[in-house]
Amino acid sequence: MSLRLGDIAPNFQADSSLGPIDFHEYLGSSWGVLFSHPADFTPVCTTELGRTASLHEEFAKRNVKVLALSVDSAASHLNWIKDINETQHVTVDFPIIADLDRSVANAYDMIHPNASETFTVRSLFIIGADKKVKLFITYPASTGRNFTEVLRVIDSLQLTANYSVATPADWKEGEDVIVVPAISTEAAIEKFPKGVKVIKPYLRYTPQPNK
Ligand code: BEZ
Repeated sequence: MSLRLGDIAPNFQADSSLGPIDFHEYLGSSWGVLFSHPADFTPVCTTELGRTASLHEEFAKRNVKVLALSVDSAASHLNWIKDINETQHVTVDFPIIADLDRSVANAYDMIHPNASETFTVRSLFIIGADKKVKLFITYPASTGRNFTEVLRVIDSLQLTANYSVATPADWKEGEDVIVVPAISTEAAIEKFPKGVKVIKPYLRYTPQPNK
């Protein structure tokens, strides 16, 4: 059965471009982003890994460790990283997992046989500090992911984890957030000193608590 939100992200030991990794140990108390790409030395993937490397500071400030994955070898990853660094003007400093036997890809359901029998699709999992799966998105090989959106959803997930708020459609950092239904308006007024705007009993906004 495939992974669902709230499940513990399966642990694994694997070789990587940075040497052997135990996934849970590597994450420690950080959040994690584990994302697969179809293959090394492919154009869309090159731009995705370059973009990820360029966002190093953004992931670090959110306490997020990033790991990429494909079914290629660690030696292949290391050769490809040279091209990524050269063409995308970055330094890839996060591990790329070498999943030659596809054991990680299978545990995370990253191979979709009707898309490709052999290659991983563009799956991306966000894992909380509690090692639980908070979000996953899946793109086909031909569509590069939007890493600005990945940061946006991390911000939303971390607000929910830390402040019991939700985020409305198209929310962006700094905009008002939504009081979750589990909190009564009375409790919300106490919990959110910046104020609670009640539009309907079930639709209540408060300024972003950590701003
Ligand atoms: C790419 O990463 O560029 C790619 C991989 C497989 C199919 C299409 C594009």
